Amino acid sequence: MDKIAIKGGKPLSGRIEIAGAKNACLTLMPAALLTDETLELTNAPRLADIETMTKLLVSLGVAVELSEQGRRLALRANALESTLAHYEIVRRMRASILVLGPLLARHGHATVSLPGGCAIGARPVDLHLKGLEAMGADLELKDGYIHAKAPTGLTGATIEFPFVSVGATENLLMAATLAKGVTVLKNAAREPEIVDLARCLRKMGAEIDGDGEDTIEIEGVDRLKGCTHRVLADRIELGTYMIAPAIAGGSVEMVGGKRRLVASLIEKLEEANISVEDTDDGILVSRTNGPVGALDVSTAPYPGFPTDLQAQMMSMLCLADGVSRVEETIFENRFMHAPELLRMGAKIDVQGGTAVVTGVEKLRGAPVMATDLRASVSLILAGLAAEGETFVNRVYHLDRGYEQLEEKLRGCGVDIERIKE
Ligand code: UD1
Repeated sequence: MDKIAIKGGKPLSGRIEIAGAKNACLTLMPAALLTDETLELTNAPRLADIETMTKLLVSLGVAVELSEQGRRLALRANALESTLAHYEIVRRMRASILVLGPLLARHGHATVSLPGGCAIGARPVDLHLKGLEAMGADLELKDGYIHAKAPTGLTGATIEFPFVSVGATENLLMAATLAKGVTVLKNAAREPEIVDLARCLRKMGAEIDGDGEDTIEIEGVDRLKGCTHRVLADRIELGTYMIAPAIAGGSVEMVGGKRRLVASLIEKLEEANISVEDTDDGILVSRTNGPVGALDVSTAPYPGFPTDLQAQMMSMLCLADGVSRVEETIFENRFMHAPELLRMGAKIDVQGGTAVVTGVEKLRGAPVMATDLRASVSLILAGLAAEGETFVNRVYHLDRGYEQLEEKLRGCGVDIERIKE
């Protein structure tokens, strides 16, 4: 298995181009199942997870054409061959569950394997299923598969989520576009990826109000049409690279970065004495004087601090001046990076859902590995600042979510290479 080697300890300087959002693209692609016309997505990121979603859609009979080196996807679901999402594909990526709502809404039946995905806690899909049931679907769980039927179509319903779920909001939002009558989603997720999905669905002819707020109202229509939609910028990739100069020193411009996508991170970076300025092309992040300040951070649904940036933030706080507390409230098992950071000389004490991080003066390079995407990239960030060489194993996690990671960091002067094994 490939690994990445980093010789750390040098400040960064350069520009990084921010790609289209993985998580937006992964929910926009299944939206193609809602119409027999072509959905064209531009600014798609080139990532293993996007390939997995492509494979899943192709296995259902969706015609997928790639152009512009994989940045433009044309998806056409006019002759579906199957409504079965097989375990072999679904187990690789939890977002596969997002085909369930669209398949059911347009075809009246679907069989979807229960998902796998990152090893960050139990991550059930009960909210997706309860919502579809409230819309009249008949569901049965058998042999690891969800067998779903709605022979006469779905019906609008009022669904109040007991807690915020991005995936459940997306699945039900898509399903509701073709349901009979009005669906109201209460305590809905407000993530920018939801707003991007709603914008695309509106272009396809859907009637949606309230996206970006906690109550979304959808009036079902008889059919949707095709459209062309540009995937929004990846705020997690953006946030990850914003933390790079904060941890290693120096100054990096994030091209295509938008302040409003990462406001909660900027607040924390500024609290830690990192400068964030707007430029003509994006955002410039610099740490030029002194160590980062210690701080407390707690993850929360958008607009709160993203759980997908928690690991990267923890890497930065390992070198902060003082004691920080990092609280994870979304996933119950998302501190897998902590023991690896300890191997690099960090001081972290995990107590349940909180990690107490005592800043150290230096991290040292070490062989490390992580079992999920964001934990892996947090180790890359730590490697940027560490003395000596860091080897990050299990690189396939990184390839799921970071396009051309080595090239982007090399462009900022980082000594980084992929070792093929
Ligand atoms: C999405 C993102 C992921 C991010 C997460 C939270 C994609 C492809 N993935 O994941 O990167 O970390 O949002 O911002 O967009 N839950 C249930 N029952 C459900 C659904 C969720 O208990 O039916 C729980 C989960 O276990 C978790 C919490 O709700 O503890 C939030 O999960 P959710 O927002 O659904 O995350 P995903 O959509 O899977």
